[in-house]
Amino acid sequence: MEEKCSRGCSQLLNWVDARFPLTKLWREHLAEYYAPKNFNIWYFFGSLALLVLVNQLLTGLWLTMHYKPSAVDAFASVEYIMRDVPMGWILRYMHSTGASAFFIVIYLHMFRAMLYGSYKKPRELLWLVGMLLYLCLMAEAFFGYLLPWGQMSFWGAKVITSLFEAIPFVGGGLVEWLRGDFTVSDATLNRFFALHVIGVPLVFVGLVAIHIMALHEVGSNNPDGVEIKDYKDETGKPRDGIPFHPYYTVKDTLGVAIFLLVFCGIIFFWPDGGGYFLEAPNFQPADPLVTPEHIAPVWYFTPFYAILRAIPDKLLGVMAMGGAIAFLFVLPWLDRNPVKSIRYRGWQYKVALSLFVISFLVLGYLGANVPTPARTLAAQFFSVVYFAFFILMPFYTKWEKTKPVPERVTH
Ligand code: HEM
Repeated sequence: MEEKCSRGCSQLLNWVDARFPLTKLWREHLAEYYAPKNFNIWYFFGSLALLVLVNQLLTGLWLTMHYKPSAVDAFASVEYIMRDVPMGWILRYMHSTGASAFFIVIYLHMFRAMLYGSYKKPRELLWLVGMLLYLCLMAEAFFGYLLPWGQMSFWGAKVITSLFEAIPFVGGGLVEWLRGDFTVSDATLNRFFALHVIGVPLVFVGLVAIHIMALHEVGSNNPDGVEIKDYKDETGKPRDGIPFHPYYTVKDTLGVAIFLLVFCGIIFFWPDGGGYFLEAPNFQPADPLVTPEHIAPVWYFTPFYAILRAIPDKLLGVMAMGGAIAFLFVLPWLDRNPVKSIRYRGWQYKVALSLFVISFLVLGYLGANVPTPARTLAAQFFSVVYFAFFILMPFYTKWEKTKPVPERVTH
């Protein structure tokens, strides 16, 4: 950093460095952070997640300047943002479509980890922190969805909070405590607003910092799943590593450009995503007396919603839904095979992962649509496939015949 400075600038830098480790941080995390040289496009999604996070924080901040968190004014204040606030419509679409973009990016980011075994030793904690981020993301999206105070905001929040009623003995009281009232009301909107704009984002940003620190402690995995730290040159630098800056700052910029092209295209021409990003009933104000014909959460929750609905008993359904997420947490300990990358794994894991992805997508489709007997049967079948992926994992990962893993990364 200091090599590029003029005299005045390097004096300033020296002054800062004597008081704060700016150059040290720059070196450790960018200029001298050695990342494997074989990253492919799956490695775009971490930096894209950071980009979408910044987008959500900034657009959210500006939306908050015009939004009114009260049951009387909320819906109208969103209409006001859309019609009267200068550039308000784009701020709102960047935020609402940004929520869907966040989940698309995060699902692909998690899938990459499953392709290349990035959750395995020594990256278990990195994965766990990632899972906490995923939980926070879900909470953030759930709280945010109530704020426009449309029909789906109200009824969605009502259905999801009432799930806690299934808990024996304390359920009823717990739901009342969560809502702050006997039903979803102004009090609920107020607390969801507080959690959405400050409570969850604070935890979220802290967890992102921990996620990156944990990553930089162990180093990045790569599509070959080999540890580059095992092969160092005489100066102690990994032979298969390249400095993150400028190589990956430049490469990630390409990812950002492609992402922004797609994202802007959607915001300008297809902001509601055909009813998937912004649901049609949410263009009507919340009405506690009129239940929408079909209540469904936004697409990113529908796989879990389908699992919930597949089970006739409410408590068991809630437990299955929680279990579907809990299994992801323990993935590093269910996978018994030391080979990380799918490139060198046996057919068993490849088939299992493909079936898992298919079940997740089909459950997502089923959860978004009106249940019929045939669809319920399909949801039950694919829920079994979803859980089988995890429950049988210790067995098929132990039995699979893997290919020899190269010592160095390949090109
Ligand atoms: C806001 C949310 C998140 C942000 C900003 C974020 C950011 C990042 C970044 C910048 C990287 C390094 C670049 C890359 O490998 O793509 C990374 C790596 C990683 N993340 Fe995340 N992440 C988030 C959520 C998650 C979640 C939900 C999981 C999984 C449950 C996860 C698991 C991982 C793993 C395992 C790696 C290491 C991958 C490897 O080295 O192969 N992250 N993350």
